Amino acid sequence: HSSGSGGSAAFAHLGKNSTGDRFVLNAADMGVTGAVVDAAEEVEDRVVASDEFRSTALISSREQYAAMYRRSVEDPDGFWADIASHFYWKTKWQSEDGKIHSANMDVRNGQVAIEWFKGGETNICYNSLDRHVEAGLGDKIAFFWEGNDPGVDDKLTYKELLERVCQLSNYLRDQGVKKGDAVAIYMPMLVELPIAMLACARIGAVHSVVFAGFSAEALSQRILDCRPNIVLTTSGVRRGSKVIKLKEIVDDALQHVLSEGFAVGTCLTYANDSAVKREDTAWQKGRDIWWQDVVPNYPKESAVEWMDAEDTLFLLYTSGSTGKPKGVLHTTGGYMVYTATTFKYAFDYHDDDIYWCTADCGWITGHSYLTYGPLLNGASIVVFEGVPNYPDAGRCWEIVDKYKVSIFYTAPTAIRSLMQSGNEPVKRHSRKSLRVLGSVGEPINPSAWRWYYDVVGDARCPISDTWWQTETGGFMITPLPGGWPLKPGSATLPFFGVQPAIVNENGLEISGECSGYLCIKAPWPGMMRTLQGDHARYETTYFAPFKGFYFSGDGCRRDKDGYYWLTGRVDDVINVSGHRIGTAEVESALVSHPQCAEAAVVGFDHEIKGQGIYAFVTLLEGVEYSQQLRASLVNAVRTHIGPFAAPDKIHWAPGLPKTRSGKIMRRILRKIAAKQLDELGDISTLADPSIVDQLIGLRDK
Ligand code: WT7
Repeated sequence: HSSGSGGSAAFAHLGKNSTGDRFVLNAADMGVTGAVVDAAEEVEDRVVASDEFRSTALISSREQYAAMYRRSVEDPDGFWADIASHFYWKTKWQSEDGKIHSANMDVRNGQVAIEWFKGGETNICYNSLDRHVEAGLGDKIAFFWEGNDPGVDDKLTYKELLERVCQLSNYLRDQGVKKGDAVAIYMPMLVELPIAMLACARIGAVHSVVFAGFSAEALSQRILDCRPNIVLTTSGVRRGSKVIKLKEIVDDALQHVLSEGFAVGTCLTYANDSAVKREDTAWQKGRDIWWQDVVPNYPKESAVEWMDAEDTLFLLYTSGSTGKPKGVLHTTGGYMVYTATTFKYAFDYHDDDIYWCTADCGWITGHSYLTYGPLLNGASIVVFEGVPNYPDAGRCWEIVDKYKVSIFYTAPTAIRSLMQSGNEPVKRHSRKSLRVLGSVGEPINPSAWRWYYDVVGDARCPISDTWWQTETGGFMITPLPGGWPLKPGSATLPFFGVQPAIVNENGLEISGECSGYLCIKAPWPGMMRTLQGDHARYETTYFAPFKGFYFSGDGCRRDKDGYYWLTGRVDDVINVSGHRIGTAEVESALVSHPQCAEAAVVGFDHEIKGQGIYAFVTLLEGVEYSQQLRASLVNAVRTHIGPFAAPDKIHWAPGLPKTRSGKIMRRILRKIAAKQLDELGDISTLADPSIVDQLIGLRDK
């Protein structure tokens, strides 16, 4: 059995780097994986915020932005020190000469190392909660919780939230969790999930949230990597009409972890009776504890662990070009300052806003813009357990009206899916509280942008199309609503302190109107500091491909007005409904199937998901194609990664198109998947060019 991840001839000259990560270093291939964005061909229309909107906007002109931006890049230390001084620091950072950061992003100058506010001591939980309560905001609502079913809801003030966080943090301490220890969290969107994150942050424990849609195997892989002594979970959850028994998945994962020689001491389980009752939950005495039986007995006050700005705050695993997920590591001070500031400006946050982000805390968006960014600003936040189209396609707008949501942040895939149900489910709700809309996760195609703007926002609410990544911690390229005209499909301009560079295949920055690889040329406070346990991979993946730059993995075009248009990943990462999935991960899941000999996975344009997963599968000799086998291959991916990574299409492949040196030509596979059969290009370098016709013949088999 061998995985088909060998790279394509188009970038064979680069070879594999030491981690096996692959890059498409051929500009002609740019955007091939870029899915739905037809932006480049669209006539660029501009959308200008109303005078009324601009009259209260934090940034109301491009000139105002330009002046602040200039300072942020010419004097980053002064710029960020001014902002950071609005937070509480137990000890101020050391800065005799006014320098608050030190960074080497150039692999030619030694180890890549980034530090912001080093020597400063603070705590992000304290700044998110205690600071507001002490300022008299204790009775302000922190979380409005909306359950899966309409009518099931709850709310928590800042004071109540702080008490709940303190109780859990006291429990964790009592369990022996100390500063620097990892805590794994596998929970659905109950308020207990952000409470768990904040409780860890309070005591200096490193939270590692695993999206509760990952399989037991994926969870165990992450547990084995960060080795927590305690896992927090929930009996189960209802998502739409489905019930998912989360504790069972954790049981399987812990079993597997044990077989690898690692024992997790405690599994603290929140009983979510509306989904799965206690009596229906399998239990391992000694290891499993019901959250409700212990946590409420702890004091509602808890000492804060003061953290160096560069102490680790959390790990979050994300997909790369190789099979092994990367544990992106964020630290405390820079992340705190950066998420708070980006939240404030990109959403034009005002104290009376009600903010709703539909993301799950299992992804970076839920960390930076459902939990930390908004709480650091003292915002009232809607946390939603369910899905956008349950019980019907009007649910989001019902929730908007119920809580008078003024800032709404979601993903293009949700917009496209709701768009399919037409305008009526939107129009039957008022939505007049809405002021700012946000988009994240993938390029938003101009037609979805238009619908979001015209229908959802009644042509009144600017859209912040925020480009960023798990690795960047916070927004990098984003409109500041009211600051400048929007162009549907463009993330527009860089945030303060962000210096994008478009780089060509030779690693040279190119200027003006151009297309190329999107890199960043100077450090920003929110950037990740390393990959858990693998600093070498951090360097080779992000800093070695283009020397002197941080490489994002995305392709990008800059237009004549300096606006940025993201065109999608240029590496072997697929963006499915805003979720990053490495083709190599899916391939390795497929080849683990006993009847699969080889597999190659590519992305293809998908109307709702942005990109779908298209798998070419070669079976072992003598095995017959069948629908049943197809289903069991898909199932292999569900159990190895999770249901969200299930391939949309399995294409039988008697062989894969390989060069004479054995490299799979993914370019050809992408064209076959996209049905662009007249654009296959030169196939004469294939070891066996006849394989292409065989594959085409099997397309609908
Ligand atoms: C990748 C990062 C950042 C939170 C969610 C995803 C794509 C993200 C946009 C956008 C175009 C976008 C990029 C990026 N992406 N936002 N507004 N426009 N592309 O985080 O899982 O780390 O994925 O998502 O390809 O590299 P992630």
